Formats: sequence, C-alpha cells, structure tokens
Amino acid sequence: MRLLLLGAPGAGKGTQGSRLSNFFHVPRIATGDILREARKAGTELGTKAQSYMDQGLLVPDDVVIGLVQERLQQPDCRSGYLLDGFPRTVAQAEALNDILTIMQMPLDAAVLLDVPEDVILQRLTSRYTCTSCQKVYPGMDELVQSRCGVCGGHVERRSDDEPETVAKRLEVYAHQTAPLVNFYRNLGKLVEVNGLGDVQEVEERILSAIGQTR
Ligand code: AP5
Repeated sequence: MRLLLLGAPGAGKGTQGSRLSNFFHVPRIATGDILREARKAGTELGTKAQSYMDQGLLVPDDVVIGLVQERLQQPDCRSGYLLDGFPRTVAQAEALNDILTIMQMPLDAAVLLDVPEDVILQRLTSRYTCTSCQKVYPGMDELVQSRCGVCGGHVERRSDDEPETVAKRLEVYAHQTAPLVNFYRNLGKLVEVNGLGDVQEVEERILSAIGQTR
C-alpha cells in the first residue's frame, strides 16, 4: 500500500499513520519526526530546521524533498510506504510525483483527515510527546512522573504546541498546505475522511474509504 496522509496540525496524521503502517507492514515516513530527531542529534539538518520549526514555519522545500527522496530509496519502501506530513506545499507535491514516477512507485491514495479547528486546538494543547521514542500521549493522565510507558524516556509538551505557535502552524497550513487538497483531488487520488471520533473508529473509516477491511 502506498499512502500519504494530509490534514491540519493535530488532525491525527501521526496517530493514524502509526496504526496504518503496522496494519499494512509498510514504513511510516514522518518528516516532522525525522526533523525532530535531527534536531535532537544536533546534525546540520537539525540545526537548519530548528528555527523554522520553533516559529511554526515550514522548513525549506529543498531540504525536506531531499530527505524524503533519500528515504524512499531505502529497500523497505519497495513494498509500500506511508507518508505523514509530506508533502506540505505544491512544490513538494510536484517533486514527489516526479520521484514516484521515476521510481515506479505510484501513490494509491492521499487521505485527508478532516477535523474542525476547535478540536485541533484542544488536542494540541493537551498533547505530550516522549522526547526519546516520540510516542504521543493525548494528556498526562496515564503517565507516571512524566515518564514514557514504552521506553521510560522523558515526556513533555512539544515546543511548537504552545498556543501562539499552534496558531501560526494553522495559518501556514491554510496558506501553504490546504491547496494540496485540490491538487490530489485533480489527480483522482483524494480520499476524505472524518477525523472525529475515537482513534479506532477513524482507522476503520480510513480502511473502508480505501477499500480495505481488517
Ligand atoms: P509535524 O510533526 O508533521 O507536525 P504537524 O503536521 O503539525 O502534525 P502534528 O504532529 O502536530 O499532528 P498530527 O496530525 O500528527 O496529530 P497527532 O496524531 O499527533 O511537523 C512539525 C514541524 O516540522 C512543522 O511545523 C514544520 O516546521 C516541519 N515540517 C514537517 N514536515 C515538513 C514538510 N514536509 N515541509 C516543511 N516543513 C516540515 O494527534 C494530535 C493529538 O490528538 C495527540 O495528542 C493524539 O493523541 C490526539 N488524537 C489523535 N487522534 C485522535 C482522535 N481520533 N480522538 C482524540 N484524540 C486524538
């Protein structure tokens, strides 16, 4: 299966991306996670990305296109892939089309998770993320002393989940990423899914919308 997930910050791309990647046994390529890892490791890529991410802005196209192209060339992507958070601009989408055409790995569907803005704001301001394994927690309730239940790492709020940065990310989404909805609609690849409801319910909706059953 070759999929990409579209949707505003907090729409549930990471949550559903992890589940779908397990379901289809394909790697999840999440540009946000790759950039956060690079930032943590202090690599040149991470240093370059940091100031954009902290301001809620997009990292320049050439940087992310290069890293996704490299990742798609890894052997594990031959059986499929799930892109989460990429593409985010029309230039990225056009570059992705070219890459996938050359590699003969065409996309099956672009899944748009549709969630209203008030729900997004509530989700993002109560989200906590493990700084080691990046597991996402929808609140602090199930955590003991801010420790991750999977790896024991420290769990904290993402720096770009502060309310002003969330507002900026939503503005950037509306201007730079929302045009991709029409881009994929025109290619006949767009699948729109209601992202409200519990996580399993949303996953079932996605599977049914792309013609798959559990
Ligand atoms: P990235 O990490 O991709 O952030 P994002 O798109 O803003 O997405 P989020 O991770 O915030 O949300 P999500 O949709 O994955 O939702 P989640 O599943 O976590 O990007 C971060 C930054 O990196 C960008 O701002 C940019 O600077 C840079 N970047 C990344 N890619 C780039 C690119 N291609 N080009 C340029 N720059 C790039 O869910 C959110 C919360 O809701 C969680 O707490 C979750 O538990 C909860 N939740 C999920 N589903 C449900 C549900 N059904 N019901 C209730 N709660 C739910």
